[in-house]
Amino acid sequence: MANYSFAKSWQNIPVGARLIRLFLGVTFIYGGWNKATDPGFLDPKSASYIGAQITSYLDTSPISFLLQPMIENATAFGWSIIITEFAIGIATLTGIALELAALGGFFLSITLWLTATWTVKPYFLGSDTAYAILWLALFLLVRQNTKGRRVIALLPDLRDRREVIRILGVGAASVAAVFVGRRFESSNPTPETGTAIVKEADFPTGSVKEFIAADGTPAILFRTKAGVFAYSRVCTHQGCSVGHDAKTGLLICPCHNAQFDPTQDGSVVIGPTKIALPKIKVAIKGINIVQI
Ligand code: FES
Repeated sequence: MANYSFAKSWQNIPVGARLIRLFLGVTFIYGGWNKATDPGFLDPKSASYIGAQITSYLDTSPISFLLQPMIENATAFGWSIIITEFAIGIATLTGIALELAALGGFFLSITLWLTATWTVKPYFLGSDTAYAILWLALFLLVRQNTKGRRVIALLPDLRDRREVIRILGVGAASVAAVFVGRRFESSNPTPETGTAIVKEADFPTGSVKEFIAADGTPAILFRTKAGVFAYSRVCTHQGCSVGHDAKTGLLICPCHNAQFDPTQDGSVVIGPTKIALPKIKVAIKGINIVQI
């Protein structure tokens, strides 16, 4: 029988563990809130779509073989990420299934390290390794100081009806937090303006160049007689990165063969999607072509 007490869940652990617990709990709730209020995170048309983010890890992640199923179900995966971050944060602060929350935080941080921050060199400049160690430390500190519980009881006692209700409460609060967050969606972040992409003199008419947009997503720049223009390379179907085909002049997606015409506002030529590629505003400013 698990005797839950919010106050004791804080009193029974050392001061250092309380500090780590407070920081991790608040940070994971903030992480969930950030994603819930990002209008692009669950929107396949957006360059910040979760599917686009996962796609960008395909070439570098050591667990890329696990990513394809996530890309194919990216929106559902995005929802589960947000709910999980809220649930881990709430459980950590309330002390409900705290050990399980700490383990969940550890595995989530390891996953983020193997995908989002794997290419950060040296490793200590990426935050996910530090989070993984903090979660593991919290788990070990809590286990050493948890009184009156079975030594190997990692899982909450599901025979205790009150414990089950408390865990369901954490789940319900997490789902509710996502819906509240989506009602407070922030407007799309304004990209950094004036970011130079290439020198104008180095980019004559007929040139094509891939670049990274100010929001960190892949993009592609064109120069024709009509001027300079650019598109996001994030496919509006499920977020793979489209590439330029020099033969046809089209932007083609390697995942399900969607094709877009850059000379026709990025409109769809063929494909499972009906949505054109998002345009990225660019202009010639001084000696550079810049994103504006
Ligand atoms: S992700 Fe399916 S066609 Fe591009």
